Amino acid sequence: MGVLISPSVLNSDLSCLAAEVARVADHADWIHLDVMDNHFVPNLTFGVPVVESLLKHIAIPADVHLMISDPDRWAPAYAEAGAGSVTFHIEAAANPVQLCRDLRAAGARAGVGLKPATEISAVADLMPELDMILIMTVEPGFGGQSFMAKMLPKIEQARALAAEAGTDIWVQVDGGIDISTIERCASAGANVFVAGSSVYRADDPGAMVDRLRALAQVATAL
Ligand code: DX5
Ligand code: ZN
Repeated sequence: MGVLISPSVLNSDLSCLAAEVARVADHADWIHLDVMDNHFVPNLTFGVPVVESLLKHIAIPADVHLMISDPDRWAPAYAEAGAGSVTFHIEAAANPVQLCRDLRAAGARAGVGLKPATEISAVADLMPELDMILIMTVEPGFGGQSFMAKMLPKIEQARALAAEAGTDIWVQVDGGIDISTIERCASAGANVFVAGSSVYRADDPGAMVDRLRALAQVATAL
C-alpha cells in the first residue's frame, strides 16, 4: 500500500476546473473533489453535473468527498458518473452498509469519512464493506484551516482497524495537510493525503505534490 497524494481543488480557480486539475495531473495520484450541500456543512460547491462534465476532460481518477446530507440517496450517482472513489460521511448515512455496496456495485471504491468529533468505533462494523476510511483533520466545510494534531490517535486507530480487517483498506487524511504536518500523519498510519491550499497556493503545485509524497514516503518507512 503506497503513499497517494490527492490534491483538493477547493481552493483553486473553480472557474476553470479542468485547467486547474491539469496543473497537478502529472504528479498527483488522484484529484480530490469536495462536494458540499450547504446543509451537512455550511458551504456550497458543486454536484453531479459539474463532476460528470469535469470527468470528460481529465484522465486522473477522481476522489469525490461528499459533505452532504442523505448520501444514501445521492452518492451512487457520483460513482455512476465515473468517480473512482466516493466517500460519504458516517454522520449522514442512514444505511452505510447498503450504501457501500451500492458504490462498489457502481464501480467505485467505497469510502467513509469521520468528522473530528466522531469516534472510530462508529465505523468498526463497516470494515468488510470499505475501501477507505477518511479521518478529517479539520472541521469539514472550508479549505485553509489549521491541522488538528489531536486527530493523530484516531489515524492510528483507523490503521489498526484496517489491519485487523485484513483487507487493503486505505486511510486518508484531509485538512491542513502540508509540509509541516504530512509526516506525522504518515507515521500514524495514513497513506492517502488530501492537500488543498498547500498545493494550490504553491508557486509550482506539481512540485509541491512531489515534495509532499517524498516526505510521506520517508515517514511511512520509519
Ligand atoms: C474541507 C475539505 C478539504 C479541503 C482541504 O472540508 O474536505 O478537502 O479542501 O483544504 P486544505 O488542504 O486547505 O485544508
Ligand atoms: Zn475533502
